Amino acid sequence: MASSLTLLLLLLLSGAAAAALDESQPTLTYFEVDRPLRPPPGSAGPCSARLLSASFGATYGRPPATAAYAPPACLAAAAAGGGSSLALAVLEWSASCRGRQVDRVFGVWPSGAELLRGCTADAWPFDVRWSVSRDVTRYAALLARPGELAVHLGNVVDATNTGVYHANLTLHLYFHTSPAPPPPPPQPADLILPVSGSLPLNDGQWFAVRNATDVQSKTLAAVPPNAYRAVLEVDYTRANNLTAAPGNGAFREVVATVDGEVVGAVWPFTVIYTGGINPVLWRPITGVGSFSLPTYDIDITPFLGKLLDGEAHDFGFSVTNALDVWYIDANLHLWLDHRSDKTTGGLISHDSPGLKLIVHSQFIGLDGQFVTSASRRFAATGWVKSSYGEVTTTFSQRFGYQNSNVYRSNGTVQVVNQTIDARSSIVAKDASSAVVLLSQEVHQVFPLYVYTATTDQVGDEFSVAAFVRLGVSENRASAGELGFSYSSLQNSQSARGSMKVKKHLLVGGLGMARQVYRHVGTEGCYFRDVSSRNYTILFDHSDESCPKEA
Ligand SMILES: *[C@@H]1O[C@H](CO)[C@@H](O)[C@H](O)[C@H]1NC(C)=O
Ligand SMILES: *[C@@H]1O[C@H](CO)[C@@H](O)[C@H](O)[C@H]1NC(C)=O
Ligand SMILES: *[C@@H]1O[C@H](CO)[C@@H](O)[C@H](O)[C@H]1NC(C)=O
Ligand SMILES: *[C@@H]1O[C@H](CO)[C@@H](O)[C@H](O)[C@H]1NC(C)=O
Ligand SMILES: *[C@@H]1O[C@H](CO)[C@@H](O)[C@H](O)[C@H]1NC(C)=O
Ligand SMILES: *[C@@H]1O[C@H](CO)[C@@H](O)[C@H](O)[C@H]1NC(C)=O
Repeated sequence: MASSLTLLLLLLLSGAAAAALDESQPTLTYFEVDRPLRPPPGSAGPCSARLLSASFGATYGRPPATAAYAPPACLAAAAAGGGSSLALAVLEWSASCRGRQVDRVFGVWPSGAELLRGCTADAWPFDVRWSVSRDVTRYAALLARPGELAVHLGNVVDATNTGVYHANLTLHLYFHTSPAPPPPPPQPADLILPVSGSLPLNDGQWFAVRNATDVQSKTLAAVPPNAYRAVLEVDYTRANNLTAAPGNGAFREVVATVDGEVVGAVWPFTVIYTGGINPVLWRPITGVGSFSLPTYDIDITPFLGKLLDGEAHDFGFSVTNALDVWYIDANLHLWLDHRSDKTTGGLISHDSPGLKLIVHSQFIGLDGQFVTSASRRFAATGWVKSSYGEVTTTFSQRFGYQNSNVYRSNGTVQVVNQTIDARSSIVAKDASSAVVLLSQEVHQVFPLYVYTATTDQVGDEFSVAAFVRLGVSENRASAGELGFSYSSLQNSQSARGSMKVKKHLLVGGLGMARQVYRHVGTEGCYFRDVSSRNYTILFDHSDESCPKEA
């Protein structure tokens, strides 16, 4: 204990000392607080398969690492046994790095559909390890087919950042042992079409949206003529930049279009990567969403009629006010009518009044503030006729955004206070409008508060004190003919600390962080309260029991 603290202090003295001691760095295991993925009671497994093992050295601007994907024998056997008895599929990424390295973004694409995106752990003054698991059950249709797996992690190795990331990707499958109970809606799609770049590429399979006028799109030729439901799942990485720009403030949104027509928007959670604001704050408890970035669903069933015409259609993405590169792609989840070759549909109504954005700024010299508020609403209703009858689906979204960005003390103090409020709902009814077949509601609130003060600036050296509070408050409810599910998540992180920077390198610092995660739902509960100081866990309490009903 004493010797490792001495070593840490030595390492903090200078980057040169760290480089010299590379070989003897202790290992720090980073983690993102999330609820554990538990298979349903009575299921068998896991049956695990290593999908890929790769090293990422000078990989920026280079082709992704690839491997042939074949469905594991247990999955093929289960499928041959009739029907899908897959209970849970988990994709596990585990990685390590020795030497100094900064946060990089990686993505995992089997057959071009992105299943996992994350940022890497900042490495130094420790060797680092982390692993992250994602529930990939909704991609069952994709996992059942052979394809090519691609993993891109754009790393740069030079005299300062010497770290090479080593990663293993493993699939764990669990199966129902008795006839499966009806799952809560919605069930996994029958087909997943990637809306992403095609290999070969010297990059990930995402599209790079570079500025506010850039629209990246892909033409899909093959929407099967018997689809009856369609959901576009959007993956994105935003530049880690909280700085407001004159004129448009700090507001950003992703807008999705089909043939140029808006089909929905994403107002993303601001993910803080492991190198964000003050890297010392995120060791070893990483920022919410950073190791497994959230994705966002846009139900495009109301527009399905147009996609069923047998013609090619263009799926596009743009970012309002983009100043830095955004990496965006999507997976189109399609449900197919197994009792019919052809479904038909049409749009009934479409209400997309566009973005309302108000930015006020007031500055005297370097001090002043930007105050930004924004809102958007969207709704579309359409019908689809299949062997299930004529179903009318309404997808609606309502967004609100408040941001104040204050600069004080001659611009050396910056205070950001931001709240994003996003609601979406899907309601599917039968032709008589009397029966609600599916109803899903999601309400998310993303608060963010960041205080930074830069002091002791002398030449290329300075210190930064920071306080950060961020979180996710999310309620989901889903009801259909087959069941009902509900979940409520309160996940909040607060961190404070300071760092010393010399020649753009972190040369010292201290940080304290605490995260409280509380999830209550029909499928289980999870509570965790964990705190760290200077790379050490102070306490870590967790509990999987659900609160007793009143
Ligand atoms: C990857 O798997 C190999 C073989 O099991 C193991 O030696 C290595 O430590 C693993 N690496 C990581 C980062 O998990
Ligand atoms: C925006 O990005 C696109 C694609 O990279 C580029 O062609 C275009 O010139 C850029 N426009 C501006 C105004 O920078
Ligand atoms: C962050 O955004 C500001 C303006 O909004 C821009 O001037 C700056 O270059 C950006 N920083 C990075 C690291 O991209
Ligand atoms: C404020 O900052 C600017 C630019 O960093 C500097 O030139 C100026 O001297 C500073 N003013 C004061 C009062 O410190
Ligand atoms: C942040 O802004 C919200 C209103 O948008 C306000 O209620 C809250 O008090 C502010 N928080 C701080 C710490 O200033
Ligand atoms: C945390 O580490 C910093 C430098 O590494 C040290 O100066 C500080 O005393 C430490 N704080 C505590 C509470 O251990």
